[in-house]
Amino acid sequence: MNKAKDITSYLKNYGFFFPNAEIYQGLAKSWDCGPNSAELKRKLKDLWWKYFITSQPYNISLDSSILTHPRVLEASGHLKEFHDWLVECNKCKKRYRLDNLVSVKEFNDFLALENKSEYIVKQNCPSCDKNEFTNPRQFNLLLSSDLQITNQKKENIVYLRPETCQGIFINFSAIQRSIRKKLPFGVGQIGKSFRNEITLHHGIFRTREFEQMELEFFCSLEEKEKWWEYWNQKAWSFLTSLLVNDKKKAQKKALSQEELPHYAKKTTDLYFQYHFGEGELCSISDRGDYDLKNHSEKSGEKLKVEGTTPHVIEISFGVERLMLAILEDAYQEETVKNSKGEKKREVLKLHPLLAPYFVAVIPWKKSLREKAQQIYQKLLTEINFSVIYEETDSIGKSYHYQDAIGTYYCLTVDDQTLNDETITVRERDSREQFRFSCQEQELSQFLNQKYQECWKKLIKI
Ligand code: GAP
Repeated sequence: MNKAKDITSYLKNYGFFFPNAEIYQGLAKSWDCGPNSAELKRKLKDLWWKYFITSQPYNISLDSSILTHPRVLEASGHLKEFHDWLVECNKCKKRYRLDNLVSVKEFNDFLALENKSEYIVKQNCPSCDKNEFTNPRQFNLLLSSDLQITNQKKENIVYLRPETCQGIFINFSAIQRSIRKKLPFGVGQIGKSFRNEITLHHGIFRTREFEQMELEFFCSLEEKEKWWEYWNQKAWSFLTSLLVNDKKKAQKKALSQEELPHYAKKTTDLYFQYHFGEGELCSISDRGDYDLKNHSEKSGEKLKVEGTTPHVIEISFGVERLMLAILEDAYQEETVKNSKGEKKREVLKLHPLLAPYFVAVIPWKKSLREKAQQIYQKLLTEINFSVIYEETDSIGKSYHYQDAIGTYYCLTVDDQTLNDETITVRERDSREQFRFSCQEQELSQFLNQKYQECWKKLIKI
């Protein structure tokens, strides 16, 4: 299989992503998570939560609103500054982000220009090969909604948040007062963000609706450098430990002054080599005191602690982009030997903690279904990991499907099970098999211990 070409249809076929509203011809470039990626996404968010919040002595969490008051985004600079430069081909009407069309150097030269709207694009249109572009114009990326649809007035406009962190900044005093935290401390949250992107491509990579996992770490100016190093290291370790096959596909890049977002003093982006090329999946920024100072000035509220305005180090992961990187890294095509010779297998070698199902219970044949169901029903009550029941007319087909969706252990119930209460345990990556007790307590202890080992290993990194 050509991985570069087919990864999207593979993920669709195996229940990871579905085009949104497909039965109505679809809502352009909008995706739903199918059953397997709903599981994977939940596990990824849980892992981020444990890694960056609950296992950290300094950090706490928040869950703020998506609907955002215009004054918040005025203070944060998004109303004025949150835009991309758009050019349109007069011939074929295709729209492009200027930074996607020209080289990094050309774009930086453009950014340095005084009169940007007179800039002339030298390249030909990648779609129709003509050079008939409009001059660049600013395109604001905020998506809005109207609270009173029948009476459209400017004051009824609310925005859908473009980043989750503004909810953390505007609640800063309330959080700090109620939790009585002293510096340094961090506040994290996971949630939907929305951007009116000019161009949407590469499946779930760039969409208008997506999720972010953001940590805002508040510290003193004096300690900022130390924490910058610490959180950069943490973000890198988190990413690379979830890429189990080829860590070299991850890269770091420090942004130049011209490339910095409007709020940042410095930014390092984490990239992954996707099937379509390199793409950013995490942004780590020194936001200084930009947000708290601006919100304080515009709201009149003191946003200080211990007499000073804290500085902020931010780690912002995009959930879908991280998922896509993890899935592309996990996908392997192998030639394996079996009793009939050689055959190909497609397998998702996901980090065990991210496998949509940690365990599958499979009866070898029809007459063993009742016994397999008994084992499955008992494992369903486990809190740490999820389990699936699989029934096909051949064990080979069951293994094939479970490998393809990344299930870590297959537990097969066979004739021997009825005699000695043991099952075959098959491990996904090595395909090694061994027999183990299917007595409730022993099996549960074994699986929980394996699960715990994976977590302990991750958290130590
Ligand atoms: N609070 C900082 C912030 O939002 P960003 O670099 O604009 O920084 C952070 O976004 C992450 O959010 C990105 O690295 C990416 O993973 C994700 N993201 C941003 N725009 C996205 C989009 N249109 N579709 C999917 N993910 C997106």
